[in-house]
Amino acid sequence: MLHDKEIKLKIATNHTARPFLKWAGGKTQLISDIERSFPPNLTQTNFTYIEPFVGSGAVLFWVLNNFPKLEKAVINDINEDLINTYNIITSRPKELISILEILQNEFHALEGNEDNKKLYYYEKRQLYNSRKEEQIEQAALFIFLNRTCFNGLYRVNRKNEYNVPMGSYKRPTICDKENIFAISKLLQKVEILCGDFEQTLSYTDKNSLFYFDPPYKPLNETSSFNSYSKDKFNDSEQIRLRNFCSKLDILNHTWILSNSDVKGQNETNNFFDDLYSSFNIQRVEARRNINSNADKRGLLTELLITNQLSNRKYIKV
Ligand SMILES: C[S@@+](CC[C@H](N)C(=O)[O-])C[C@H]1O[C@@H](n2cnc3c(N)ncnc32)[C@H](O)[C@@H]1O
Repeated sequence: MLHDKEIKLKIATNHTARPFLKWAGGKTQLISDIERSFPPNLTQTNFTYIEPFVGSGAVLFWVLNNFPKLEKAVINDINEDLINTYNIITSRPKELISILEILQNEFHALEGNEDNKKLYYYEKRQLYNSRKEEQIEQAALFIFLNRTCFNGLYRVNRKNEYNVPMGSYKRPTICDKENIFAISKLLQKVEILCGDFEQTLSYTDKNSLFYFDPPYKPLNETSSFNSYSKDKFNDSEQIRLRNFCSKLDILNHTWILSNSDVKGQNETNNFFDDLYSSFNIQRVEARRNINSNADKRGLLTELLITNQLSNRKYIKV
């Protein structure tokens, strides 16, 4: 018979790692479509998985959980606070958990007292924005704010100050101990980078598979949320990304990319159809989560574009 301690250990070892954050554009809903685009000839060999816009890593964790033979993974994001959190989870999970437990106990103790909860939240937000804390404290505050803020949004102003108000969760999970340990274990074989997506080119191997999930092009002027960092991802950034994908294609690397389907919203908008006309464009159904207006959370199509079976004719934009 197993003792309590052994059962706990067994649960911890068998725990399937999943995203530790709520993140705009999280890809959990699209995973089965993305899976269908994964080339089996590559994934059955020792391949390198590269995710240049990792965000909360829904696809990353799916890959790490499902391809144990994966040789290497490389993740990148321009958001320094996000990448600091990945680094801390990888190297100091126990200490991080101790701080998160304190934050969780203190926040839960205020249940039923909205004014004090707000005071606590805004005090922690101010502390986070002062950026005077150690990296481990910053990582804990990053997770705390993500779990307690309005709709799990990450939004900063031009001064890189996080400015999302408090959410209305009663007893949000701030410290998911088993998940942090499971993630920490998986991240040991992951190279973690912080910066622009183009830097991932130097981390390729012979069998590299890229998954790109950039900030989506807004469906219309007012609809969209795509400010994950102080720098905006506009149309010229989308074009720079396409040029990078063309370069990878010439170098024989395989890639899959998701983006919004602007044509689904406006029949005459051929932005992505023109930009990626040399590649395979599929339209898949997707449900958007991060939208404060419940009416706008309905079904939409999104694009999944790959360079597999492409006819390799480039149009210079
Ligand atoms: C759509 S989100 C990725 C969502 C992610 N797939 C998930 O499941 O949570 C886009 C990410 O791109 C990052 N980003 C924006 N501009 C970037 C750039 N130039 N290079 C690298 N990352 C960038 C943002 O910080 C954000 O985390």
